[in-house]
Amino acid sequence: MTPIFDIHIFVCTNQRTGTDKLSCGETHGLELVAEFKKQLKDLKVGLKTRAQRAGCLGICDFGPTIAIYPEDIFYVGVKKSDVQEIIESHIIAKIPVERLLLKS
Ligand code: FES
Repeated sequence: MTPIFDIHIFVCTNQRTGTDKLSCGETHGLELVAEFKKQLKDLKVGLKTRAQRAGCLGICDFGPTIAIYPEDIFYVGVKKSDVQEIIESHIIAKIPVERLLLKS
């Protein structure tokens, strides 16, 4: 099956309540979704892209976490100020942003 989008960005916006465990939505996951949408439009990447909210991606301790497909790459500790670099480097130049990569 052919993917609908060339690049699909999932931003964890999970908000966990009743626990001390951090979740991305409590930090700034929603702000990241809005920033990706804005920057993808402003930077005119020339690809079919989509940035959307996602539930917990299972990497809560290092969040906010995002996943980018089709590369299946996870970035952690992403800030609003990192969004432009992710788009310009990862999405446009096809060079992952090393410092934000989830290290296994
Ligand atoms: S709450 Fe964001 S990865 Fe789990």
